[in-house]
Amino acid sequence: METEPLLEIRDLRTYFFTSRGVLRVLDGLNLSLPKNQILGLLGESGSGKSVTAYSVLQQLEKPGKVVGGQAIFGGVDLLSLSETELRQLRGREISMIFQNPRSCLNPLATVGQQLTDVLRVRKGLRGSDLRTAAIDMLKRVALPDSDAKMSAYPHELSTGMCQRVMIALALSCEPRLLIADEATTGLDVTIQYQIMQLLKELAITMNMTQVIITHDFGIAAEICDNIAVMYAGSIVESATTLQLFDHPRHPYTVGLLACRPRLGFTRSLWAIPGSVPNYLSLPSGCRFHPRCTRVKEICSRVTPALTAVGDHHLVACHFREP
Ligand SMILES: Nc1ncnc2c1ncn2[C@@H]1O[C@H](COP(=O)(O)OP(=O)(O)OP(=O)(O)O)[C@@H](O)[C@H]1O
Ligand SMILES: [Mg+2]
Repeated sequence: METEPLLEIRDLRTYFFTSRGVLRVLDGLNLSLPKNQILGLLGESGSGKSVTAYSVLQQLEKPGKVVGGQAIFGGVDLLSLSETELRQLRGREISMIFQNPRSCLNPLATVGQQLTDVLRVRKGLRGSDLRTAAIDMLKRVALPDSDAKMSAYPHELSTGMCQRVMIALALSCEPRLLIADEATTGLDVTIQYQIMQLLKELAITMNMTQVIITHDFGIAAEICDNIAVMYAGSIVESATTLQLFDHPRHPYTVGLLACRPRLGFTRSLWAIPGSVPNYLSLPSGCRFHPRCTRVKEICSRVTPALTAVGDHHLVACHFREP
């Protein structure tokens, strides 16, 4: 299996400069994305998953700012590119499916116009071939009545339908890297499953590297090759999906998995007491220590480094599971 990284995030630091103070949300995040594989990025709400994606694509909104680090994609640091250079990459090389689908569609163009625009450029299709390919894409994301939906405007669609149109648009770009941020949250379980299977199929047939951001261990177990677990702005553990489920080493991952629903049963459950800390008053040392069952004195003093504990298995904990 090819494991050379397509994207390597190094020491990423993203702060929010608010009137209440500086929120150091990402303060040295490291993450590597093996080529042609699907990485699941998991973590509780507020752990910084979306901020990570937005930072890498330079799409952070104020008062957020990337204050340091690198995101090396195909030998180029995405964080050093100008807006124009990045625009050329976004959509072609890198596509993102956002948490809020409606805001990403053009309200003034029909579904068909938006989709055929992309397919014309990306696949060089024309005329009836173009229309057929667009309808086919809508069918693949399980949009009911795809033919008729071609002439619909986004405001005529439900949120779930907009979500599927956005997924169809992102996939039509055939990017090398696809970042899907909670792409199927809110859709019904059968459709979620169908879309996740489609993503997996495309990862294989189109050599597409993907990051699937989700709360859902079921989805992650089903389609991801690797999983990175995020807590309060840091990666606390990353491993192959099998290793992570079989032998989790970080107390946070262990806690999450202890309350995991059955495999294939898509539901998220977070039953570790407490919550992700407020970024204005972060705990010292390991950010997880106030909630940790294995906590010792050193944990509040020294931030544990992400350390290799096996092939492709990294853990940031002083007292990781043996
Ligand atoms: N626009 C903003 N202004 C101020 N702080 C922000 C802003 N966006 C994000 N943050 C901070 O960054 C933290 C992480 O946010 P992020 O959206 O990345 O969480 P997430 O892991 O994607 O959560 P969810 O699963 O709910 O989508 C938030 O808890 C918040 O403190
Ligand atoms: Mg998010």
